[in-house]
Amino acid sequence: MRERLHIAFVVSELVPWVKTGGLADVSAALPKALAKLGHKVTIFVPRYGTIGFPAGEFLGSVHVPVDDPRRSAGFYHASPQPGVNVVFVEQPTFYDRPWPYGRGNDDYGDNPQRFAFLARAALEYFRSRGERPDVFHAHDWQAGLVPVYLKAFYWDDPTLYRSPCVFTIHNMAYQGNFARETLDVLGLPRHLGTADGLEYHGGISFMKGGLLFSEAVTTVSPTYAQEIQRPEHGYGLEGAVRARGGEVSGILNGVDYDEWDPRVDRFIARRYSADDLAGKAACKADLLQAFGLPAEPDLPVVGVISRLVAQKGFDIVTGAWWDLLNRPLRLVVLGTGEPAVQAGFAEMARRAPDRVAVRFEYDNALAHKVEAGSDLFLMPSRFEPCGLTQMYSLRYGTVPVVRSTGGLVDTVEPWDAVRGTGTGFRFDHADGTGLMWALDQALAEFADRPSWERLMRNGMEKDFSWERSARAYLEVYERALGQVG
Ligand code: ADP
Ligand code: GLC
Repeated sequence: MRERLHIAFVVSELVPWVKTGGLADVSAALPKALAKLGHKVTIFVPRYGTIGFPAGEFLGSVHVPVDDPRRSAGFYHASPQPGVNVVFVEQPTFYDRPWPYGRGNDDYGDNPQRFAFLARAALEYFRSRGERPDVFHAHDWQAGLVPVYLKAFYWDDPTLYRSPCVFTIHNMAYQGNFARETLDVLGLPRHLGTADGLEYHGGISFMKGGLLFSEAVTTVSPTYAQEIQRPEHGYGLEGAVRARGGEVSGILNGVDYDEWDPRVDRFIARRYSADDLAGKAACKADLLQAFGLPAEPDLPVVGVISRLVAQKGFDIVTGAWWDLLNRPLRLVVLGTGEPAVQAGFAEMARRAPDRVAVRFEYDNALAHKVEAGSDLFLMPSRFEPCGLTQMYSLRYGTVPVVRSTGGLVDTVEPWDAVRGTGTGFRFDHADGTGLMWALDQALAEFADRPSWERLMRNGMEKDFSWERSARAYLEVYERALGQVG
């Protein structure tokens, strides 16, 4: 293994600058873990309108031939910690907008150009500096053209010749599928539009490009690596995944315990640990106050922090409102997303204002309070490539109740009351019956304090730190390097 690799990340979100989901956490935490192991990472991310200008020190600009030969990218550099460099890609026409992808589900019409530009700007950055990273690491469809451009235009380039690329799928449901003419718009050769190229149902798919043109492909949990080989979770690309055969590996995401650990959390009312749980009661009181719920009677609090979209399955929860309101529990919801799901939760809060409270907003500080102050954490996902919040919950002694899918299977071990093993509760059926079956077991266990504390501690002692995953990625980088000779 090489002593020091230089890895170039291409991503569309990055904490703390821009985040719509877990990808932003991973884009920051994985480079940090790689740098701690002695490697160097340069992360390319667009300078969106919500990121201040200038976003860092100006490094120059280059011409990036994508759709319009006159477009240039400006590069601005920041270094959040030693070994990690962030390069913001400045292109006002494309990125100086309020949202990264568009408003709600209304994607910007020029997203193919915007993200093709990101991919090619990263390559032109290196070419213009005569510098060659060891490996590119492209994430999700927004970076899917990185390996395509490398193969189409840079394979014999004096600087970037035969640069390998690793592609990571964070969510197969978002594929970046566009009309066939997009190839012409982007100046990509038409022969890339065939079935063994980017072709997808008569159009083209950026995700498929990432999948087929990279030296190695990973996804964010071992179970999801299996699931995307079948139609239910492959969304039409299961054949392309299978074509890569054993090369698609699942590497579980980790947790940045500098950010998500009740021993050091700067957002919560009182810090606590597995050895001293006392502070959790203060966090619960603080959470109830933040959501405007009464402190008494002392009922378990079920927490939710999520994008409220079909993937996450919260329509199952709102559909089971009658059963839920008949149970001795309280519910706090922090999330944004589909109006129908929000309306369902709002209606529950209207029916039981002393037990259900909702906040339809994005609030990181409040997310920390929900993790710390809840007793249970609910994730009824229909599919979940990895999921981070259930791993955060485990560290906070907030027992997860999850559907058995994807990364939730790999991170939440069913509680066995006889042996005192396990960390949470899982259910298979994505319906109200399944949900209540698991929740009722959890509520019964909650009533038995000694076994509940055992269950909490089992979870708190789990270690999902990034170091292990970073080492697994290093092996994949080496494998990719081996493929290009
Ligand atoms: P996904 O990426 O599918 O949304 P993950 O569990 O991987 O799911 O990551 C979700 C991330 O977004 C977590 O860091 C979570 O705390 C955060 N998050 C989601 N919704 C909100 C919200 N409304 N307010 C604050 N943080 C949120
Ligand atoms: C996606 C997935 C989520 C995963 C995250 C980070 O947003 O929906 O399950 O944890 O990416 O990999």
